[in-house]
Amino acid sequence: MENIINGSELVILEKGVTIMDIIDQKIKEQMFRENTDAFSVADLGDLVHQHLQWQRALPRVKPFYAVKCNNSKPVAQILAQMGLGFDCASKNEIATILDMGVPAERIIYANPCKEVSHIKYAVSRGVQTMTFDNKDELLKVAMIHPTAKMVLRIAVNDFTSLLPLSEKFGASLSECRQLMEYAKTLDLDTIGVSFHVGSGCTDPKIYAQAIADARVVFDIGIHLGFQMYLLDIGGGFPGTAEDKVTFEEVAAEINPALDMYFPDKTEVQIIAEPGRYYVTSPFTLVVNIIARKLVEKSQPNSNDEEAGNEKTMVYYLNDGLYGSFCNFANYRDLLKPILYKKHSLDQKLYNTRIWGPTCDARDHISDAWMLPELEIGDWLLFKNNGAYTSSISTTFNGFHAAPTHYAISEEAWETLQNIKKEIQSPVEEQDDVDTQHLVIRQ
Ligand SMILES: Cc1ncc(COP(=O)(O)O)c(C=O)c1O
Repeated sequence: MENIINGSELVILEKGVTIMDIIDQKIKEQMFRENTDAFSVADLGDLVHQHLQWQRALPRVKPFYAVKCNNSKPVAQILAQMGLGFDCASKNEIATILDMGVPAERIIYANPCKEVSHIKYAVSRGVQTMTFDNKDELLKVAMIHPTAKMVLRIAVNDFTSLLPLSEKFGASLSECRQLMEYAKTLDLDTIGVSFHVGSGCTDPKIYAQAIADARVVFDIGIHLGFQMYLLDIGGGFPGTAEDKVTFEEVAAEINPALDMYFPDKTEVQIIAEPGRYYVTSPFTLVVNIIARKLVEKSQPNSNDEEAGNEKTMVYYLNDGLYGSFCNFANYRDLLKPILYKKHSLDQKLYNTRIWGPTCDARDHISDAWMLPELEIGDWLLFKNNGAYTSSISTTFNGFHAAPTHYAISEEAWETLQNIKKEIQSPVEEQDDVDTQHLVIRQ
């Protein structure tokens, strides 16, 4: 009994069965086959939960999921079934989403600097809405896609965010008039404004300021004769309750700013491009210790001098910075391992150094954890591992991304069916999930 959500098995969990039970089961199945490969488990019910929370907290804002954050097809399919739109940054992302049966109107091609062949592809598939932040891009689009609907991306002050983006993308406010005048001379339609406060925003006030800035640009556009009707407030929303700011705090800045600067609920469509908000929490990564070294204090590569411990434990995992941890290179402190094997609380803790599996010395995961002595074959779990992990992992040294097992609780599955009925998404008819073949686990 196998299936199905875009070719992946989806397990529906009966009441009382948890994701931890599935992880347990997968580990046991693998151990039986003497297979210690790393894997992920995704709780797709979390997507449903996140979406309901979004609708409650930001009722005026329609989410267009940023595919780059996690391009797993089952994730995209569930989100499509709940009526989300999609932020695509390339030809392949556009193809993935359109091939699932999502209409082109539910895509924003949100990359301000696009390759010509990718714009041509967007034209061929009917994708109209796209962002820009410079004159050359306008000229390029005018020649290839004269009927495109252009959205001007503005820069914001995002240096406090985990991954600031405005150094790379976004026009300054002082450039906007000139850019829109140029669009006018090219006869290119400008329909709105977008911004991104940086991924992993830590200061929700940036959204309010950016919305105020967007209003200024809207008014310039209207003054130039454009019918401005799209505001895109980008991504940056926190993916877990443990983030520095909560989703509620972000919403509490956004809603009043929208009501103040964009009070007319009928004339302006407001969208966002959340990535990590949706996919961080559903994914748990499960990795194995494949090798270890015990480094005595006297050895030159021991880091135990200050701590006074007699040895450092050095472990090598079968996933690392070139795989699922690629995005954590500068944020290793965000990684928190959970030991699968139970250890007693009074067990001695050691300085621990963790490496990934490749031969590159930069493939170093952490020196920060004090852990009990572990053995080759022990498993470690990393929760909240869905954002910018598998989608940017590499095959360096021949190591491949950990495969994912998908599960959803019976309750979340029913909620999903109800959401689908309510919105009657066109995707539902084309790409439905075969419930006959779902695996039910107790
Ligand atoms: C244009 C654009 N939109 C949306 C996102 C998603 O951001 P986040 O995952 O912080 O929500 C990104 C991330 O880099 C982006 O570049």
